[in-house]
Amino acid sequence: MKILVLCGGLSPEHDVSMKSGSLIAAALAQRGHSAALCDIFRPVASQKYAAFGKGGGEIFDIPKEPTSLSSMRAEYSDGRQIGHGVLELALSADLCFLALHGGFGEDGHVQAVLESYGIKFTGSKMAACHASMDKNISKLLCRRAGVRVPEGILVFRGEKMPDVSFPAVVKPCGCGSSVGVSFVYGKEQLESALCAAFEYDDGVIVEDMIDGREFSVSVLGDTALPSVEIIPRGESYDFVSKYQAGMTDEICPGRLTKEEEARVGALALAAHRALGMDDFSRSDFILGNDGKFYYLETNALPGMTKTSLLPLAAKTAGIEYGELCEKICALALERNKK
Ligand SMILES: Nc1ncnc2c1ncn2[C@@H]1O[C@H](COP(=O)(O)OP(=O)(O)O)[C@@H](O)[C@H]1O
Ligand SMILES: [Mg+2]
Repeated sequence: MKILVLCGGLSPEHDVSMKSGSLIAAALAQRGHSAALCDIFRPVASQKYAAFGKGGGEIFDIPKEPTSLSSMRAEYSDGRQIGHGVLELALSADLCFLALHGGFGEDGHVQAVLESYGIKFTGSKMAACHASMDKNISKLLCRRAGVRVPEGILVFRGEKMPDVSFPAVVKPCGCGSSVGVSFVYGKEQLESALCAAFEYDDGVIVEDMIDGREFSVSVLGDTALPSVEIIPRGESYDFVSKYQAGMTDEICPGRLTKEEEARVGALALAAHRALGMDDFSRSDFILGNDGKFYYLETNALPGMTKTSLLPLAAKTAGIEYGELCEKICALALERNKK
């Protein structure tokens, strides 16, 4: 099968996505597929692996110094987010494997373009991606499906300072990777936290800080995979700990009773369905000290590096990395047949 792995793009998670994409292309090539690997932003002609049969030639590492998005933009400054030739390449593929993370690739934009060209791709469609990217919308949908979310309010730029209880967490509605997230312990810290969050979005959530342990549960097809417990080594689970190996401990399955494991699995499935996700997703929860799970968010395109949580959960369930990649392709093709 001709599979185009799309990754990179103008996202703060560009480098992680390049790594995910190169691993996926290698795994698919190894399993006999004709894979191509393409940074969605750059022109196809400028890329070494963007041809069928060429993908899987190299595994990209995450550089210590992140790739500069402004210099990428300056290199190809025609305002396009999809490079010359990328759509043509996608049209000639049997399937596109989306290894994009963050922004344009995960918020539904890329999905909308691919859908309108009739191009088949893995993972959720435009509307579900869009809903999951917005923490306000996703929490509203999940709450309607019976999934408990932290109590909170939505604040818009310029509005009066809200009356909230502390400790609280302040976060922009539409970001990720802990960007713009602050933990606030008193009223005097609220204004600067709101300012920091408004840097990234016009809508900001201020919600109760839940004291407890954090779990991430992936859904593959119609099953919840074993939970992963995330134990930060630093004070919180921020951008650095997420992507630098060794900054968090991840235990799979998480330290839960059988009943709790079943409960959080059912919640992850409920969130997946409430948001209208396809093929796979990964939802994050906190198990509060009150014994209740609180929903934080769902990732439409979770990381696919070997240390990422979905591959880890799959492995615990007996599904190796290459098999996971193929299973995702199979789910997408099956869905497209209907
Ligand atoms: N209500 C909350 N209570 C306690 N910790 C929280 C809460 N919301 C977020 N966090 C912590 O902050 C991290 C980032 O928040 P999250 O909502 O997942 O946003 P992001 O999209 O930036 O990952 C979470 O992984 C969790 O550790
Ligand atoms: Mg998160």
